[in-house]
Amino acid sequence: MSILVTGGTGYIGSHTIVELLEAGFDVIVVDNLSNSSEDVIDRIEKITGKDLSFYNIDLLNKKALDLIFHENSIEAVIHFAGYKAVGESVQLPLKYYQNNIISTLNMCEVMEKYGVYNLIFSSSATVYGYPERLPLDETCSTSALNPYGRTKLMIEEILTDLSNSNRKWRIALLRYFNPVGAHNSGLIGEKPNGTPNNLMPYITQVASGKLEKLYVFGGDYPSKDGTGVRDYIHVVDLALGHLKALKKIDILSGIEAFNLGTGIGYSVLEVIETFEEASKVKIPYEIVSRRFGDTGICYANPVKANKHLNWYAERDLFEMCKSAWDWENTREFISI
Ligand code: NAD
Ligand code: UD1
Repeated sequence: MSILVTGGTGYIGSHTIVELLEAGFDVIVVDNLSNSSEDVIDRIEKITGKDLSFYNIDLLNKKALDLIFHENSIEAVIHFAGYKAVGESVQLPLKYYQNNIISTLNMCEVMEKYGVYNLIFSSSATVYGYPERLPLDETCSTSALNPYGRTKLMIEEILTDLSNSNRKWRIALLRYFNPVGAHNSGLIGEKPNGTPNNLMPYITQVASGKLEKLYVFGGDYPSKDGTGVRDYIHVVDLALGHLKALKKIDILSGIEAFNLGTGIGYSVLEVIETFEEASKVKIPYEIVSRRFGDTGICYANPVKANKHLNWYAERDLFEMCKSAWDWENTREFISI
């Protein structure tokens, strides 16, 4: 029996596959390489010393997806595939609805056809919109701030309807906070297209001299230093959360949402300071006005995942910054 991982050559998927293989699972990877490259498969095989089956297919192609289920014995699906750029989703909402929603519908239809009912879905803290209260727990109200976030919310609702329709479904909605960092092998990590939008990849590119300085969005939030606060989580801890969810999926009651965060919020200035310690590089920055659509302070209450999945984030901000910096320095020079 195998675990099917969609979007498996992407940032979070690749780290999760490493943990799955190291825990002894057989893994089948599906990705259309729209935001990743095939050499990630070689890199995962190099890290783990294990083989992977890779299908370069688009999840919008339901026939091709059906064939994978026909050819393999699949016990669960971890569904990472999707587009994730907030700004682009505002410009091109149909692209996001088409890809994220239709891919998920196709996946669920094929799973149902083949009697596969275990699903782990990549959701996001973005479903909490502007936080109702802090720390955010899974009972907080949800809303969407942009089309990307709306796809996550819509998919959560679709999966809830599906679970209500048939008691066989076991679905974990994993709401990620802010994944950062990279694998300690230096072989896999995040590869942003063009100028990064997110804080950590922007900082690493300032540190390496690719970008001149960091613009800190907002110095007037109600945080200790006025800059925005987030719950950064090491991507390896996040990957391990999927492993824990998979091991517990049989005892989930239908559909369950879990926050995957550390429970600790750090301000932008604290991240800069820790990054400087980890890299020994000074980060020039300028505080500018708030970014449109940003929330000020956001961090998780991860107690549900601690208790029900027996999962705890273990890696601290220093390790996140250090691994992000190591990846920035190695990724262009390693050939497999
Ligand atoms: P990523 O872009 O690195 O990985 C997604 C992968 O999906 C890519 O390799 C891409 O080629 C593939 N893909 C996209 N559409 C596809 C399709 N139609 N068919 C087949 N493959 C397709 O992104 P990531 O950071 O690894 O994120 C994984 C998931 O987690 C996404 O659903 C994202 O929305 C969600 N998420 C990410 C973050 C984050 O900060 N990275 C935060 C919260 C939630
Ligand atoms: C972004 C997405 C969100 C997604 C999340 C995780 C936006 C508007 N939101 O949120 O939907 O779920 O990533 O992938 O893109 N910052 C700067 N300067 C920068 C970049 C960021 O000061 O150049 C600040 C931000 O204002 C924020 C913090 O750094 O306070 C983190 O920003 P970012 O990494 O973009 O994550 P989110 O804002 O949480």
